[in-house]
Amino acid sequence: MYSDPVQKEYSRLAGQYDSRWSFYINTTIQETINRLKINSGERILDLGCGTGALIQGLWEMSPEAEFVGIEPCIEMLEIAKQKLPNSVQLKVGYANNLPFPDNYFDVVVSTNAFHYFRNPVQALQEAKRVLKPNGRLVITDWCHDYLTCQVFDLYLRLFNRAHFRTYGLSECQLKLQDAGLQGITIEKYKINWFWGMMTAKAVKEAKISSDF
Ligand SMILES: C[S@@+](CC[C@H](N)C(=O)[O-])C[C@H]1O[C@@H](n2cnc3c(N)ncnc32)[C@H](O)[C@@H]1O
Repeated sequence: MYSDPVQKEYSRLAGQYDSRWSFYINTTIQETINRLKINSGERILDLGCGTGALIQGLWEMSPEAEFVGIEPCIEMLEIAKQKLPNSVQLKVGYANNLPFPDNYFDVVVSTNAFHYFRNPVQALQEAKRVLKPNGRLVITDWCHDYLTCQVFDLYLRLFNRAHFRTYGLSECQLKLQDAGLQGITIEKYKINWFWGMMTAKAVKEAKISSDF
């Protein structure tokens, strides 16, 4: 039915995604939220929002903020819709071609999706374009510096067409720089013996407000 392997994979997984991956989703989202401060009235975009778990967590903390999610898999968005308030805008689309005007968001976030992006620098450039000046980008994803991640990445590259690739801390730093982002900091950490993660933070311009 779908020609895009990502849509194919996640239309199949959507119904079981939240329960099957609950530890991984809850922990990575909490690690991300711990590194991100949302101010009242800010507009936030979640790239690859999936079933809406990150938006749900952020909304519970800052219900007065405005949330938008973009996601290529309709079946994942259907589940997000059931969990999130109607005020959250959910759109079908891809991170490398964002259907939003320039300088529109205060914060762009993404969890557990970056390793799917076929053109990661283009996606980061798009994130930068839609961010307001001094807008903040926060991305959490697998970190290729960990051996378990390297092995899993290789396995998925061989056997899972939806997967693209993972990055180490230095490569992630270079990609953020190539996209013209500034104030880059990246922290890597393990959430258990298997999952080695990193959270990257950057701003659209040099004037860092340390507002994370
Ligand atoms: C592992 S799930 C993560 C979902 C959610 N962010 C979370 O943390 O639970 C990866 C998501 O990225 C989405 N995705 C894959 N490629 C994408 C792209 N190029 N642009 C936006 N989202 C994408 C998938 O459809 C999937 O829903």
